Amino acid sequence: MHTLIKKEQLSEQVYRFELQAPLIAQGRKPGQFVLVQTDLEFGERIPLTIADANPEAGTITLIFQAVGATTQKLATLQEGQAIPAILGPLGQPSHIERVGHVVCVCGGIGAAPMYPIAQELRRLGNRLTVIVGARSAELLILEDELRALADDLLVVTDDGSAGRKALVTEPLEELCRESTPPVDQVFVIGPPIMMKFAAETTRPFAIPTVVSLNTIMVDGTGMCGGCRVTIGEETRFVCVDGPEFDGHLVDFDNMMKRLQSYKHQEANARDICRQ
Ligand code: FES
Repeated sequence: MHTLIKKEQLSEQVYRFELQAPLIAQGRKPGQFVLVQTDLEFGERIPLTIADANPEAGTITLIFQAVGATTQKLATLQEGQAIPAILGPLGQPSHIERVGHVVCVCGGIGAAPMYPIAQELRRLGNRLTVIVGARSAELLILEDELRALADDLLVVTDDGSAGRKALVTEPLEELCRESTPPVDQVFVIGPPIMMKFAAETTRPFAIPTVVSLNTIMVDGTGMCGGCRVTIGEETRFVCVDGPEFDGHLVDFDNMMKRLQSYKHQEANARDICRQ
C-alpha cells in the first residue's frame, strides 16, 4: 500500500500527490514512469511519470489531470489514504548529456514529466530555455519550479491570459532560427498534436528532438502490445523501449488514431464511476 502523504490541487483538474514508495524513490531516474492501479480487482492501470522523488523520505511525486475514470477516482483520495498498487519504476531513463543549449517545451500537464529532465539538464551544466504553454493561465503548472531551473522561461497561452498569445511552436521556431548560442537539443512533452508540430518545427533545422509518449498501457512490461507505436520503419513498445523517442521518427498520426480508438470505452468508464 502506498500512503498519500500530501495532496495539492495545482489547477482545476490537476493534482500533485506525494506518496510513500521507498523502493521506487530510490531507484527512479528522470523519464521513468509508474503504473498506478486504484482497484486491484477491476481497476485499469494508468501510466504516470514520476515528477520528483525524495529517497530520504521514501516518497515519490505524481502529477496528474483528473480526466478519466481512474484519475477522477484518484483525485478523491485524501491524505492518509492509500493506493493499493504502484508498479515501477518502468521505462528507459531519459538520455541526458551536457550538450550546450537545450530547449524544453512543455504543453499543459507535460510540465510534470519535464521537471525531472530539466533538473538533470541543469545539474549537468546545460544552458536551459524552457517554454511552458497551456490553453489558458489557470492550466499552467510548475511555472515557478521550472523558472528556478531555467536560464530563460517563456510562457505562452492559446488565449493570451498569461504570457504571449501563441502556440509553443512560435517561440520554438524563433529560437531555432535566431538563438545565440544556437539550440543543440530540444525536449518536448505535451499532447501528441503539440509534439508532432514541435518536431516538425525543429526538423528543417536538424536539431535533435526528443519526445515523451504516453500511450494506452495494460501490462507495462512489453507483453500485451497495447502501447505499440511506429518509430521510423519499426514497431516499438512505449513501456519498454520508451517512453522517449526521436520526435522526427514518430508516426504521430498513427499514434493519435490508436489513442482515439478507446474513446467510447473511456466515456463509459467515466459514466460508471460517476454513478
Ligand atoms: Fe503492454 Fe506496453 S503496455 S506492451
